[in-house]
Amino acid sequence: MVGSDGAIGAALVRALRAGGASVHAGTRRPGLAGPERPPVDLAAMDWPALVRASYASAVIAGGVTGIAACNADPEGTWRINVDGVARLAESLAGKGTQVILLSTSHVFDGRRRFPGPSDPVSPTDAYGRQKVEAERRILALPGGAVLRLAKVLTPDLPVLESWRRDLLAGRAVSPFSDRCLAPVSMAQVCEALDRMRRRRVTGIWQLSAGRDISYAELATILADRLGADRSLVRPGPQPDSMAEGTAGPRFTAFDVSRLSQELGLPVPDPLKVAEEAVEALVGRPRS
Ligand SMILES: NC(=O)c1ccc[n+]([C@@H]2O[C@H](COP(=O)([O-])OP(=O)(O)OC[C@H]3O[C@@H](n4cnc5c(N)ncnc54)[C@H](OP(=O)(O)O)[C@@H]3O)[C@@H](O)[C@H]2O)c1
Repeated sequence: MVGSDGAIGAALVRALRAGGASVHAGTRRPGLAGPERPPVDLAAMDWPALVRASYASAVIAGGVTGIAACNADPEGTWRINVDGVARLAESLAGKGTQVILLSTSHVFDGRRRFPGPSDPVSPTDAYGRQKVEAERRILALPGGAVLRLAKVLTPDLPVLESWRRDLLAGRAVSPFSDRCLAPVSMAQVCEALDRMRRRRVTGIWQLSAGRDISYAELATILADRLGADRSLVRPGPQPDSMAEGTAGPRFTAFDVSRLSQELGLPVPDPLKVAEEAVEALVGRPRS
């Protein structure tokens, strides 16, 4: 697992180990390295421990994931997200390892609903362009696979906490009415990756909810759960300044039929995923 100190990496390592798998959790933090925590720095292209070991599968979830960070430094982040990822994947694939790269809905421009795995890509930001090229290089390798993910919704999404604070204080919130998410839960991501590695699949796979919901619907679910007045949810369009570059695709739900038909994964219900995340947030002590 590369990127195992990140949100998805940490959850996947826990889930796989709970299921009895033997997992090495790669880290770029020198203080955390150890026998089951091989050091992996995609920027330095340095991973001697991984080269010595032998793995059935590797999941690459590491890299610079911020859209703003990729836009601000497209060359520097390309070296990590494309060159580093591809170099690591090549050395793993050369030893017969199945390599699964995590990718994103930003490979599409979000204008078309439910794009399929083989539809033409159309990224509009640096992050999406890097993922397109990283995908291309991974798919050229024997044993190369890609899992494109829509938003993985957890109670840690910062806007949920700030909406909660405002709604409980009787203040209005302004979620975007024209920005969508097709959320999936962390458990669904882990289950998809576990099935992909067990079946040693290759090629492109996509996981999102079965349809998009708006951020306004998400805020309304939270307001209802808190018993707050729904009229405090006042949706509005995202500012033009955000629509270009950082805001993300308009529609984010993929065609997920391959995962459901070939790997038997139920298509996630966006409202259920949103309700679960809200429930987990409300169950936490307030910050
Ligand atoms: N979360 C989502 O909603 C979502 C949706 C679609 C796609 N994805 C994709 O899923 C993957 C994982 O996402 P995430 O949310 O778990 O990201 P994350 O929480 O930002 O974690 C990224 C991880 O990458 C590591 N990393 C950064 N630079 C590195 C380098 N130079 N060498 C090695 N590791 C490095 C980070 O290490 P440190 O912890 O030490 O900083 C961190 O552990 C990403 O590829 C992302 O594009 C995520």
